[in-house]
Amino acid sequence: MAARTSLSPVFPLDSAVNERGVLEIGGCDALALATEFGTPAYVIAEDDLRARARAYVRALAECSADGEVLFASKALPCVAVERIFVEEGLGCDVASGGELALALRAGFDPDRIYLHGNAKSPGELREALQAGVGTIVIDGLDEVESLVEQGADRQRVLLRVNPGVRPDTHASIATGQADSKFGIRLAQAPAAIERLRRTPALELVGLHIHLGSQLMDTGVFEAAAAAIAPLGEFGVYDLGGGLGAAYVSGARPPAIEEYVSAQVGAAKRHLGVDRRYVLEPGRSLVANAGVTLYSVMSVKRGESTWVAVDGGMSDNLRPMLYAASYEAHVADRLLVPGATAERCVLAGKHCESGDVIARDVALPDPRVGDVIVTPATGAYGHAMANNYNGVPRPPVILCRDGDARVVVRRESYEDLLAREQPDAAAGA
Ligand code: LLP
Repeated sequence: MAARTSLSPVFPLDSAVNERGVLEIGGCDALALATEFGTPAYVIAEDDLRARARAYVRALAECSADGEVLFASKALPCVAVERIFVEEGLGCDVASGGELALALRAGFDPDRIYLHGNAKSPGELREALQAGVGTIVIDGLDEVESLVEQGADRQRVLLRVNPGVRPDTHASIATGQADSKFGIRLAQAPAAIERLRRTPALELVGLHIHLGSQLMDTGVFEAAAAAIAPLGEFGVYDLGGGLGAAYVSGARPPAIEEYVSAQVGAAKRHLGVDRRYVLEPGRSLVANAGVTLYSVMSVKRGESTWVAVDGGMSDNLRPMLYAASYEAHVADRLLVPGATAERCVLAGKHCESGDVIARDVALPDPRVGDVIVTPATGAYGHAMANNYNGVPRPPVILCRDGDARVVVRRESYEDLLAREQPDAAAGA
């Protein structure tokens, strides 16, 4: 039984340090997981996913608003995780044909799937229509013709409107500002609404906005809701996702309840109380539910102490793309009383200097063979994993009550070779 030493909220709920001083996720010893499944590995606490999903559903209910919560599956596109959200009563946001295939496999009711995307292909639209996807979020008018050609028949659609509100977040993940590739500009929205209403194959039921991602401030919702209010009254408003996660201890994103109450509260004030409000969180459902386990391969002491592990930018691109900060800990020396920690640079194994997972982390006496944990890697890690340097992508392991199961296996060299054509080596 783990001593319930409480850990910072960057770790999955109910994580603990056991009597051997080892981190436990979902009741599973991190060193045992590393031994059994190898490293790097994404480890996800199932109970944490469920708790956050329930918090969203409860928060929406507490706003006395009709509506639903969707999982923005891009954050962790993994069938087993999606199935948990099916069980928790969530719908699903997909942004491509591939995400749609995963969502269908997970068992989401197609009627509760929303298809997004600023460059949907005719093939993806056809797949959505064939699957009976409930709602297609029109991002631009070029899609309309394509949907008609693909045989849409009173297909429910929302129109994504760009409210012209710039949230405070990294430029690469801000979407609500005027000059964005997403959605219809506010000034062009009335004509777009008219056009959709004149298209018998489509049934325009409402509007969609998504201001951006990793938002720490709820102040932006007021302006966004006010901006779209003059476009008319609609039955449905999809307010997007965006709630930030705590990547490092001390970061204090709004609580789910606070975020939902600000988002829906502003919408109710400007758009009406008797509407259906749809929320589509991704990151805030999964980021802190997951950690990544790595093994230390090398330690070099010089101007800095370079601790290099067996993963890096192939399993977590976020430090490189958004200068995102992460914590790192030695899995079996998390809370050593009086231990002096060395300031280290946690580097990956990839062939470029920018492959640094965390620039300034305190690790107590890091050694080759240590298992390193980076918390808050449940969102957009597995999702954006890649094969740079021919590195196979890590497995996803779900943990609950001390049981661990592989839900996505580690990639193999055979997987890497599978798409190579047999005659390529011969130069034919
Ligand atoms: N709805 C729409 C239309 C979106 O575009 C997104 C995220 C979401 C919902 C979910 O947002 P969330 O709750 O996760 O903030 N790769 C980046 C994040 C890209 C977000 C893309 N869209 C990262 O690692 O930070």
